[in-house]
Amino acid sequence: MKILVTGGLGYIGSHTVVQLLASDHEVVIVDNLSNTSEDVAQKLADITGKEINYEIVDLLDYDNLETIFKNNDFDGVIHFAGLKAVGESVELPLKYYDNNVTASINLLKLMEKYTVNKIIFSSSATVYGDPISVPIKEDFATFATNPYGQTKIMVENILADIAVANPEFSAIALRYFNPVGAHASGLIGENPKGIPNNLVPFIAQVATGERDHLRVWGNDYDTADGTGVRDYIHVEDLASGHIKALDYTNKFKGIEFINLGAGKGYSVLEVKDAFAKASNKEIPFEIYERRAGDIATSYANAEKALELLDWKVQYDLDIMCEDSWRFTDNLAEDQE
Ligand code: NAD
Ligand code: UFG
Repeated sequence: MKILVTGGLGYIGSHTVVQLLASDHEVVIVDNLSNTSEDVAQKLADITGKEINYEIVDLLDYDNLETIFKNNDFDGVIHFAGLKAVGESVELPLKYYDNNVTASINLLKLMEKYTVNKIIFSSSATVYGDPISVPIKEDFATFATNPYGQTKIMVENILADIAVANPEFSAIALRYFNPVGAHASGLIGENPKGIPNNLVPFIAQVATGERDHLRVWGNDYDTADGTGVRDYIHVEDLASGHIKALDYTNKFKGIEFINLGAGKGYSVLEVKDAFAKASNKEIPFEIYERRAGDIATSYANAEKALELLDWKVQYDLDIMCEDSWRFTDNLAEDQE
């Protein structure tokens, strides 16, 4: 299929592009480089041995986005582009509503105008807020605790409305749990700007010596060791979920919400220990107060993905840490 990949130079998008090209899909990437750089396109060419077709365009720029639709006959869209920093979304809500919701509306208007009826959307486990129980199933109530989460719920609702209005429409909102890891080549991975907010990128920078210790946000949760528990998923597994979801859009019309997670949780201290083993580095840590807005435990019920998409995770926590470490270590060496 010929696929438009928005945000395809970002962390999850880039790994998915590698797998799309390996599965003989044709890919056009659109990215505004707000959270990545053009070098990623070269890395993608190195990994795949294929020419990377990409356009530097902002989804908020309707006219330039339309030119891409005019010049290509797309079969479907994978929509990764968006801003994702929860804290920033609380400070700058309009930036998030604009970039995540208005931009998605632009994209969906053009899909309608050019009769592109398949979309895979990057949603998030954040739509479950503080769930009543774990594992989390797709039919749990959705609830946002911050503007970022609101934008994901809003776009899910917009997709559901279009699915009612257009009987040819086929949408899958993939609700990712906690993506970590990197491509085995060590060439692409997650390279956050500034101080990492997420656990694994932060630990990785402690391992390189860039930061002196891990701040563990609370050890008084109702979990086995008192630290927060999350469902970490290798970005390669996440990417393969998109390929399977794309295949599934050929078989159904309407909308589906599907969790992509391992179905199993690890605590902050377990992740720290796995990373120390993978990197062969010590990870000093200190216990801090809980981080505002954090919940104790989140992990997926991943049965729907298995049932509908024939998808389940292949990689365990040790490999996630080894691959994250290879990428971060390479970056640190490049910067020396
Ligand atoms: P990322 O920031 O690495 O990738 C997003 C890409 O979109 C970036 O390359 C950025 O430059 C681009 N982009 C942003 N706004 C754009 C716009 N208006 N026009 C064009 N390009 C734009 O993030 P990621 O981790 O790869 O996340 C991809 C998607 O998955 C996002 O929608 C995110 O909300 C969602 N998600 C991520 C996580 C996570 O923890 N990484 C978890 C759940 C959901
Ligand atoms: N943590 C620390 N120290 C850190 C960073 C994180 O102790 O420096 C802890 C957190 O308290 C939490 C766990 O590590 O218990 C995971 O935290 P992350 O920030 O890595 O991930 P979250 O589960 O908080 O949130 C992530 C994304 C959200 C997304 C959510 C669900 O950041 O955007 O997963 O997909 F919504």
